[in-house]
Amino acid sequence: MRRQNNLVTLFTAITAFFFGSFITKILNSVDKCPANRSGSKLEPHPDIFLVVLILSAPSNVEHRDAMRETWLRLGQPLQLPYYPEEQVYMPAYDQRGGHLQMEMVTQQATRLREFINWQEKLLQHPPPVTQRKIIVKHLFAIGTQQMPSNLRDQIQSEQKQHKDLLLLPHLHESYRNLTGKLLQAIEGVIQQYDFSYLIKVDDDTYVKLDHLLNELVSYDRKLLRKTMDYGSEPLPQLYWGYFNGRANIKTKGQWKEPNYVLGKNYITYALGGGYVLSRKLCEHVVNNSHLLSHYTSEDVSMGTWLAPLRNVYRWHDPRFDTAYMARKCQSYHLVLHKRTPQMMRDLYGGNLCAPEKNVMGANRLLEYYYDWTRTSDKCCDSLVV
Ligand SMILES: *[C@@H]1O[C@H](CO)[C@@H](O)[C@H](O)[C@H]1NC(C)=O
Ligand SMILES: *[C@@H]1O[C@H](CO)[C@@H](O)[C@H](O)[C@H]1NC(C)=O
Ligand SMILES: *[C@@H]1O[C@H](CO)[C@@H](O)[C@H](O)[C@H]1NC(C)=O
Repeated sequence: MRRQNNLVTLFTAITAFFFGSFITKILNSVDKCPANRSGSKLEPHPDIFLVVLILSAPSNVEHRDAMRETWLRLGQPLQLPYYPEEQVYMPAYDQRGGHLQMEMVTQQATRLREFINWQEKLLQHPPPVTQRKIIVKHLFAIGTQQMPSNLRDQIQSEQKQHKDLLLLPHLHESYRNLTGKLLQAIEGVIQQYDFSYLIKVDDDTYVKLDHLLNELVSYDRKLLRKTMDYGSEPLPQLYWGYFNGRANIKTKGQWKEPNYVLGKNYITYALGGGYVLSRKLCEHVVNNSHLLSHYTSEDVSMGTWLAPLRNVYRWHDPRFDTAYMARKCQSYHLVLHKRTPQMMRDLYGGNLCAPEKNVMGANRLLEYYYDWTRTSDKCCDSLVV
């Protein structure tokens, strides 16, 4: 019965929306699964489906308040109809060598188009309201070691009011030690919470949490139903974000990486504005943290730490706008980095492409699908048009 209670409680009205019969089919098949699973190893039912882990600077209380008042409220409860599982990709292992097969560029393009169509249909024919209670827990990670006492007082009163700070007593914030912060934060979350997925974001990231959750739920259900298909192979573990395989190693500036010497470029990693990890990957990193090399960038570090594992499903998604600057705004973007508190409020108010400042047309980053069939220097030339 792994996550079922979590997912289906409060499912008040199953509708005859355009894929109504599909939902029924899924529910039936999901219901059948647990009986046949009693013998196999299943993890305990996690209390929390998704942890939202926000790495936040101590003084950024304005950002935290903007997030609390906007996107952290989305999807509570989830009022979207189920995202059709047919539109969710499940990677299989190949016969030769047991490598997980990532999605082809054409499949990525099809999937994006299907999502856009689905979103448009929702707007044109709003379905009757359904409600699902998917448990989400958000935490702002903040290091408190040697924190000045006035700031400490503020943080303590903020904690008293919101109870959503993950305070890290062994982390000194002023060292710009984001990799250490990430590890300690994930460790803190693992120790305290039972969860299925974690999304790491910065405190200037906006997430369309309802849509993200909805699709993650469908992915998770599909994976649960397909578990048998993987036989004795390890279940795919999700690493979902916007990948880059040809980023140059920084040799100067605040992100300089003097110790990244094993390659000419960073190993393929999901950009740090936001990425999702399944619990097992978080555990893997925490369990081995004493052996892992710490690089300056936390996102680069994560990509490198997960590089050798063959059960990592790297889901490259152009809906993650998670680079160091915003791409051209698209209403299908789900995770939007580099947003000010005001932009977050505008987005939440329904302005899907809130006025964008400081972004020159000519300098825009181009959006791409990831070509997993080629070497990483040729990863990123298939543009989303
Ligand atoms: C469970 O699944 C296996 C393999 O798919 C099948 O052989 C078995 O009969 C099923 N057991 C039950 C109780 O449905
Ligand atoms: C960064 O944090 C980690 C974990 O707290 C710690 O082991 C490491 O020494 C720190 N590095 C620096 C440069 O502060
Ligand atoms: C991590 O360690 C814990 C405690 O020893 C263990 O239960 C868990 O299975 C480990 N997870 C992974 C992915 O190594």
